[in-house]
Amino acid sequence: MSRKSIDDRTVKASNHFLQPSLKRADDCSHLPASVFASLQYNLLVWYGQFGRVLPWRQSRDPYAIWVSEIMLQQTQVKTVMPYYHRWLDVFPTVQTLAIAEQQAVLKAWEGLGYYARARNLHRAAQTVMLLYNGTFPDRLVDVMQLPGIGRTTAGGILSAAFNQPLAILDGNVKRVLARLVALHVSPNRALPYLWQLSETLLDQQQPRDFNQAIMDLGATVCTPHQPLCPVCPWKEHCQAYNQGIQAKLPMSETRAPLPHKTIGVAVIWNDQRQILIDRRRQEGLLGGLWEFPGGKVEAGETIEACIQREIREELGIEIAVGDRLIVVDHAYSHIRVTLQVHHCRYVAGEPQAIECDEVRWVTLTELEQFPFPKANGQIIEALKQEAGRKDEG
Ligand code: ADE
Repeated sequence: MSRKSIDDRTVKASNHFLQPSLKRADDCSHLPASVFASLQYNLLVWYGQFGRVLPWRQSRDPYAIWVSEIMLQQTQVKTVMPYYHRWLDVFPTVQTLAIAEQQAVLKAWEGLGYYARARNLHRAAQTVMLLYNGTFPDRLVDVMQLPGIGRTTAGGILSAAFNQPLAILDGNVKRVLARLVALHVSPNRALPYLWQLSETLLDQQQPRDFNQAIMDLGATVCTPHQPLCPVCPWKEHCQAYNQGIQAKLPMSETRAPLPHKTIGVAVIWNDQRQILIDRRRQEGLLGGLWEFPGGKVEAGETIEACIQREIREELGIEIAVGDRLIVVDHAYSHIRVTLQVHHCRYVAGEPQAIECDEVRWVTLTELEQFPFPKANGQIIEALKQEAGRKDEG
């Protein structure tokens, strides 16, 4: 069939996308096949010309592709790039990752955020060694059993590594599809419909390229703000563009504002100029990372009283709270925190890991060896600057 004849037929049919009315929310089989053929063709041609050349796309190694897909969850390509290269230098195979210390794994992830991804990747590597003798499984059900791998990540890995015809639905793809059909609800309220649309659209002959292409379309053309519709290979079928409502879509998810906590944080010094740090328990989003000890300021409590109480409860020691070092505001994915950080002097008692996994006295220089959550980076920086000023003075 000539290019022209595909277009002629599909342009006429281009208004036939049904909104995911509640009755048909998980059914888009009514859409004309010619529309899908045209969308596939146009996208693959566009990808051939404008697709990004990315390191994981040069590889067919499921491990390397898996690492990239986990890093790319909630994180942009340009941020991931240096981490990806460094990671594969340090952990080039599933086996090297499986036998690594968790501390080394978290250190290699430090700064990427969402640390559960690193802990899950590590555990999953151990599972792959144990259950599959180090060979990454190639069946969707098996892949989805691994920690940290949901349906879209599994589809992303298996389509990229083995060219399996499995659809994906990450944030970029949700936005592209929501605009394509002018979805009148937020994407997360229409997931069954969007999954089916992604599956129906998927090019069965070239699923690898199709999935990479639709991700690139979302990242480079169908961007959240000011999408570049005039150069989009899907513009003739895009309902949002044809109705002039692309800037209004997708409808936003209703999210409760992030909760906020003020945390009193202690930089506890002993007479040897060492600082006391603790390793957080494995549970929770920052599990396994090191931190300066402290805790939530209770209603009516001063920062100083909070720090003293928290250190007694968490570590079983007495301290004297001194001057403020720094105030750090930071928004994690789940919570906003204000860290009120004070210098403290160790007074008495043997530090115990009462509410954490481990405690250690370390020098300022040794701090760098330990993985810390992002908000703690500014504390370390402030400590170094102070030390620099003292050296000069
Ligand atoms: N986001 C998730 N997977 C990706 C990939 N393979 N390429 C670019 N961005 C992505």
